[in-house]
Amino acid sequence: MEQDKFKRYTVTSALPYANGPLHIGHLAGAYLPADIFVRHLRLQRKDVVYVCGSDEHGAAITIKAKKENTTPQAIIDKYHHQIKDTFNNFGIAFDIYHRTSSAIHHTLSQEFFLNLYEKGEFIEKYSDQYFDEEFEQFLADRYIVGTCPNCANENAYGDQCEKCGSTLNATDLINPKSTLSGNKPILKQTKHWYLPLDKYQPWLEEWLLVGKKDVWKTNVYGQCSSWLKQGLQPRSMTRDLDWGIDVPLPEAAGKKLYVWLDAPIGYISATKQWALDNGKNWQLYWKKQANPTDDACLINFIGKDNIVFHCITFPSILNAHGDYILPYNVPANEFLNLEGDKLSTSRNHAVWLHEYLDEFAGKQDELRFVLTSIMPETSDSEFTWKDYQARVNNELVAILGNFVNRVMILMHKYFDGKVLDGKALKNKDINTQIANAYTLVDAHISTYKFRNALQSVMDIARLGNRYLTETEPWKTFKTEPEAAREVLQNCLHIIGHLSVLMQAFLPHSAKKIQQMLHLKGDVFYYDEELVFEDGHQLNPAQLLYEKVEDAAMDFQIAKLQDKKTEALQSQKVAQPAKPNITFEQFADLDIRTATILTAEKVAKTKKLLKLTVDTGIDTRTIVSGIAEYFEPENIVGKRVSVLINLAPREIKGILSQGMILMAENTDGKLSFVAPAGLVDNGSVIK
Ligand code: 2FM
Ligand code: ZN
Repeated sequence: MEQDKFKRYTVTSALPYANGPLHIGHLAGAYLPADIFVRHLRLQRKDVVYVCGSDEHGAAITIKAKKENTTPQAIIDKYHHQIKDTFNNFGIAFDIYHRTSSAIHHTLSQEFFLNLYEKGEFIEKYSDQYFDEEFEQFLADRYIVGTCPNCANENAYGDQCEKCGSTLNATDLINPKSTLSGNKPILKQTKHWYLPLDKYQPWLEEWLLVGKKDVWKTNVYGQCSSWLKQGLQPRSMTRDLDWGIDVPLPEAAGKKLYVWLDAPIGYISATKQWALDNGKNWQLYWKKQANPTDDACLINFIGKDNIVFHCITFPSILNAHGDYILPYNVPANEFLNLEGDKLSTSRNHAVWLHEYLDEFAGKQDELRFVLTSIMPETSDSEFTWKDYQARVNNELVAILGNFVNRVMILMHKYFDGKVLDGKALKNKDINTQIANAYTLVDAHISTYKFRNALQSVMDIARLGNRYLTETEPWKTFKTEPEAAREVLQNCLHIIGHLSVLMQAFLPHSAKKIQQMLHLKGDVFYYDEELVFEDGHQLNPAQLLYEKVEDAAMDFQIAKLQDKKTEALQSQKVAQPAKPNITFEQFADLDIRTATILTAEKVAKTKKLLKLTVDTGIDTRTIVSGIAEYFEPENIVGKRVSVLINLAPREIKGILSQGMILMAENTDGKLSFVAPAGLVDNGSVIK
């Protein structure tokens, strides 16, 4: 592989926030690719440490605690364990799954801050930040919502608009609102410590734009160069929060380190903890001094929303510190969509991994297979249950499982599962194709093309099937049993190699195959010779994969729909109250009961109806914006309430005299407000 020049590998996957369960998007984005990469390195007997852990600070945690009416500590304890178990179940082979709430991490993060502080790297700045007067606290970016100045999305956060993807400052938002009280926050002065990214720009241009041009994936490189083209701004590394790591300065009482300062340092603290637990030297994996000839290779696997922090901020911090190696590569993946829509935790539009494990027990490799096949390596991709079914049935069951099963059954049927004179694979062409597959898999994995790598493995299963079909040992067995034996034993070698190559991708089924083949050992390194000694006894055949039935898929599709509807309903919140008015102001409104006499659409408009209304005082015309909710013929005769002393206005050339009162549901649906009992038109509503 391209990275062969290194002696050691430090591989990381983004630390997930411990504020909720994992879904398929997580797995496909930053964990499955890293796991395959690391397993592949290990199979080459490379020295590699693979670290990850829970990201337990920042507003993500406190917001969740508030939602669940509990403490941040309870949240991180709950989800840390759940997430760790899920990763473990899917075979994500971390050397350590650590936590950023640990003492070792707090100490190291504070050391980093002080190192930069003492070097005078930070700019100390007073600025006005949003403050919620009712809750008496400064508002983290995620606690402020408002209208995005770029795309007019009304639910943009203080740091980012999820609709158009732009990065924002809270003060950029139009109509900002505190999510704590619903009030408009005030601006209040506060002091923070900023990382001068503008000062680092020339260094970043050299290190990244020049140094990583042909090394990084184009989706990552492209995003970074567009950031650099826009010009970097200083970014605050501290926050006014009550959850996180204390800023280690006496004058900063009550302030915390920015979560994006401490989280990537979590990779280092996790390695430190792993080294302590295993009698290793962590510095070999992180420190420049321990790597005078650039022996260690740092690779950060992440999703695309984390690119700026890993490619710009974290390397700047490492470089400013000076003692640490920099990322060699940051192979970020794009996003995985689900059934035609974005994955969304808040809308509960996701396939949750813990639920998959319950509902598809023992089928971890099926999901690993599908997610690797559709991995969003260079652009967004999509998971659908029908595609899951097709890939499992047409590839895992029909090609891989079928080949292994046919060979095992025939070996047992004809030769009682005993190998004779079968040490080596006696077919030159197949040998060459297998050797090629090892080379191809390596080439693809080292360039982060996991989809192609998996297909190269599957090509060996295809090759096996073809060979078996062409040689027909079930026919030759009757006349030339030794020829049939040779074919089947050659197939055993193909299966053996298939299992070796599968280990990085489908570790559970690779192990199953190796058990069937009765190969010893836990791992089969790539350079190990695959030998079936004379008299080698195979174990009984086991089914590798089961066909996925339509009913199971229909169930999953319906479940997604139900969850989405449920989430939408539970999200409906009444609008906050308006400021008080006086009784006199209320008494100025003249509201009367009335009846709609006629209704027609206003030409060339979508929303407007022209109504004539009997107000008990007169018959008047009112133009009302309700055409999207009511057909004109259905509302003639309806009892309504009308504000009759609203100043007349001309709308689309029609003089509108008053306003029909409507109740608007949280989902925007309109209903008429009518008197409950029998009252005459013109009755006063007061
Ligand atoms: O986006 C996230 O889920 C972050 N918790 C990722 C952190 S990656 C790293 F820096 F630790
Ligand atoms: Zn936007």
